[in-house]
Amino acid sequence: MSYDYVLETRDVKKVFPGVVALDGISLKFRSGAVHSLMGENGAGKSTLMKILSGMYKPTEGEMLYKGVETVFEEPVESIRLGISMIHQELSPVPHRSVMENVWLGREPLIKPTPFVDHKKMYDDTKKLLDDLELSIDPRTIMAELTVAKMQMVEIAKAVSYNSEVVIMDEPTSSLTKKEVEHLFKIIRRLKDQGKAIIYISHKMDEIFAISDEVSVLRDGKFVGSYDAKDLNTDKLISLMVGRELNDLFPKVQCPITDVKLKVENLSSAGAFENVCFEVRKGEIVGFAGLVGAGRTEVMETIFGMRKKSAGTVSIDGKTVDIKTPESAIKHRLALLTEDRRQSGIFPMLDVKDNMVMAVIDKYRNSFMKLLNHKQIRSDCNEYKNKINVKTPSLEQKIMNLSGGNQQKVLVARWLLTDPEILILDEPTRGIDVGAKAEIHALITNLAAKGKAIILVSSELPEILGMSDKIVVMCEGKITGMIDRKDATQEGIMKYATMSS
Ligand SMILES: Nc1ncnc2c1ncn2[C@@H]1O[C@H](COP(=O)(O)OP(=O)(O)OP(=O)(O)O)[C@@H](O)[C@H]1O
Ligand SMILES: [Mg+2]
Repeated sequence: MSYDYVLETRDVKKVFPGVVALDGISLKFRSGAVHSLMGENGAGKSTLMKILSGMYKPTEGEMLYKGVETVFEEPVESIRLGISMIHQELSPVPHRSVMENVWLGREPLIKPTPFVDHKKMYDDTKKLLDDLELSIDPRTIMAELTVAKMQMVEIAKAVSYNSEVVIMDEPTSSLTKKEVEHLFKIIRRLKDQGKAIIYISHKMDEIFAISDEVSVLRDGKFVGSYDAKDLNTDKLISLMVGRELNDLFPKVQCPITDVKLKVENLSSAGAFENVCFEVRKGEIVGFAGLVGAGRTEVMETIFGMRKKSAGTVSIDGKTVDIKTPESAIKHRLALLTEDRRQSGIFPMLDVKDNMVMAVIDKYRNSFMKLLNHKQIRSDCNEYKNKINVKTPSLEQKIMNLSGGNQQKVLVARWLLTDPEILILDEPTRGIDVGAKAEIHALITNLAAKGKAIILVSSELPEILGMSDKIVVMCEGKITGMIDRKDATQEGIMKYATMSS
């Protein structure tokens, strides 16, 4: 049978209670091409992919696979037919090995017995990983891998199905530049083998590096499909947000006054050593460096989540001894962690509870310890509007929000603690361009109110656009301090790769 498009959606609509997630989407995917899907947080990208992979059924509309109308009752059917997906939320079985995760539910058996053929499973996994040039031992327990490696295993798993269509929903959110290049090599190879790749990312440079075609969704509606070479960043952004965005880094100069936080010779054995820096009121200090440079560990130590082996931290000129996050919050510190899925979100709780979690006691009256629900609602609403969280209500379970909107709820959680010192570790990861600008504006306003801010980011434009001063780390040490006026990408990269 001949067909022009391996996969096609016609007028697909998906309604959740209170939300029209997709409203009449018609898209066509070609074999041997990379088709990217762009759109703001909550635009409907993941929902559409979940329909293509049989996790959701469309409310209306149809889907054609190889020219034939197809309905998937469950994900295994789509996989069997040749569509595999790497999800935005990874869900490995942590205590099982890499090879067990790859072949879960379809383990090779020693025929005619019902026993798993571990040798074959090992050999097949080894070959698969070797083939993709991934140096991971198939016997490693999943939980022992870094998030990036887990992501690579997911990718290997998707490849192992030998699918016609491979869907990748933000596969690079926790990969380093080098790992992204590796992934792109794999994608190009799949493309050469005639596979159709559907790719979702908020990173513009990736979209232009890898795509043949780009389709844009906005608020569940189809905006258009374009040849990648007919687009550029500005054009793509305006298609996504429906307006011009000219100020991505709305930094304003505000007075920088007294030293708020001072860190002296701080060390944590095995992670980093001799870290010294200070942050003044009204100042944004950017932390740059390659993934693994030790920046997150420094922040965790300041926040009492990790034991220090030497050094002092002082706030307002007084030495403090912060050993737990609770004590950090009492000292008016806030830390937005980098790894939100594991340490941030409570999926079964609603948006409101996720937001007020860190300050819940503030809402109890002194007498009966009853919660002031009215105040909680009004505070949550205020922040929901401030950073534009897209949710039908505050009572929505957070797991039903799009990835980027979950992220915004966590930003709100920390703002609600009314901190004096705000540590933001990759605050805009997974966040679309429009919302990024909103969060940047918020950070700037907080600085203008005299808050001391630390911004850890792997995105150099964000660091350069937002920071008054930039601290660069490499292999657990500070290798450079650059003033805003002297900062360049090249300068930062030089320090970031300068091990002593
Ligand atoms: N299971 C669900 N129940 C209720 N609403 C949902 C569910 N899944 C998604 N939604 C809603 O559908 C809309 C589209 O969400 P989706 O996850 O597809 O967005 P996205 O484009 O992938 O965004 P992001 O870039 O943030 O990942 C959002 O408003 C979201 O809240
Ligand atoms: Mg998504």
